Amino acid sequence: MSYKNLEIETRDGIARLTLRRPEKLNALNDETMGEIESAFEALRVAADVHGVIVTGSGEKAFVAGADIGELSAQTPVEGRARAMRGQRIFDAIERFPKPVIAAINGFALGGGCELALACHVRVASDTAKLGQPEVKLGILCGYGGTQRLPRLVGRGRALELLLTGEMIDAAEALRIGLVNRVVPREKLLEESEALLRKMLANGPVSLRFTLQAVAAGLDMPLAQAQEYEATLFGLICTTEDMKEGTRAFLEKRPPRFQDK
Ligand code: COA
Repeated sequence: MSYKNLEIETRDGIARLTLRRPEKLNALNDETMGEIESAFEALRVAADVHGVIVTGSGEKAFVAGADIGELSAQTPVEGRARAMRGQRIFDAIERFPKPVIAAINGFALGGGCELALACHVRVASDTAKLGQPEVKLGILCGYGGTQRLPRLVGRGRALELLLTGEMIDAAEALRIGLVNRVVPREKLLEESEALLRKMLANGPVSLRFTLQAVAAGLDMPLAQAQEYEATLFGLICTTEDMKEGTRAFLEKRPPRFQDK
């Protein structure tokens, strides 16, 4: 499938999804959001894709936010609908059954930071700048930022970012836990891919169930979430991969997982 504002390249089980609207610093207009939704739907069922890296085209930006041109003209009804659509699209990334890494190559602002927050893990280049500047525009986050940011970095740090609208650099983002690691700009894709490959070397069912347990469990009370974890744990005992993984350890050899 071909897209106007993004590009997908798949190699050795990893799909690289590149936002490509460089003249607008990859800002997320409605059309691009629709393409992200379709792309993830296609990647979900693509048998040759086991993990995804999301990044931005150009030297400057991962994604510089929602498209401010479109936001400036919205009615209240359109604004609510746009937020709900964006939330649905980013929820699908958070709940994606294969690992998704954001490779943050520059500005990740507003909807761009929210996109990174919806990905499972964030790797930033040392040139990245992150922030939620919505308050400077007289609006607030609409794609989940007021909820995912405090869950990731804590309420106080999130509110400082959300209320000042100030950008932080990659080192500060690492310090507060907004990104998992910071790497030199020229190594961003290589390091993100190496991290993803480390994940993909493990049992595929284990990865799916772990993603599912974390995504669904964090929305539940602890006791219920743990019960859910135990159910998945029981279910995974039915798999060939569970037998293979444990047997391989005992036989002191690498496992050969078959996603069965
Ligand atoms: N929506 C629409 N267009 C955007 C955009 C956005 N979120 N972010 C950048 N652009 C456009 C600019 O309008 C400019 O277009 P033009 O050349 O047609 O005028 C182009 O991208 C380049 O951006 P520019 O501002 O000239 O680059 P810069 O290096 O001077 O500044 C930023 C970079 C990221 C600091 C600045 O573009 C910015 O503050 N963007 C908005 C960030 C934001 O508030 N995001 C949250 C939106 S909810």
